[in-house]
Amino acid sequence: MMQIFSLSFCFAFLAFGQVAEEGQLKTDEHLMLVRANCTPCHSEKLITQNRGTEDEWRALIRWMQKTQGLWQIPSDSEQKIVAYLAKNYPPSPNRRRKPIPPDQMPPSPAPPPDGL
Ligand code: HEC
Repeated sequence: MMQIFSLSFCFAFLAFGQVAEEGQLKTDEHLMLVRANCTPCHSEKLITQNRGTEDEWRALIRWMQKTQGLWQIPSDSEQKIVAYLAKNYPPSPNRRRKPIPPDQMPPSPAPPPDGL
């Protein structure tokens, strides 16, 4: 009985752990550097829902430095941060599906308009 109890406690803990992880920065080299410089002002989720190349992430950093009060980051640290971001949050391919070719479309239930 005790075993069953502790097993279900384990599962509850696992499920909770997964929910808490959503939107969090991925564990990888330089994560702590990224956390230290990128999460004092806004949530990690704002970062994880964005995508870009190294140049695009660097441009975003410049924009925050110019307009949002982000501090100067030493260039070797900045390079590590940008590399982490471009590796874990690279540009995403267009996720919209291609249109279905007309010959594979189901027949239209509506009668064609007059003249067709
Ligand atoms: C000094 C505060 C500050 C720090 C530190 C900071 N940011 Fe920001 N960032 C902002 C503000 C302010 C915004 C605009 C938020 C909004 O529009 O709600 C923003 C917006 C963003 C956005 C969203 C841009 C968009 O187009 O919507 C991303 C992604 C981002 N920051 C990533 C980062 C990364 C990566 C770092 C670390 C290098 C970082 N931020 C560090 C202040 C900061």
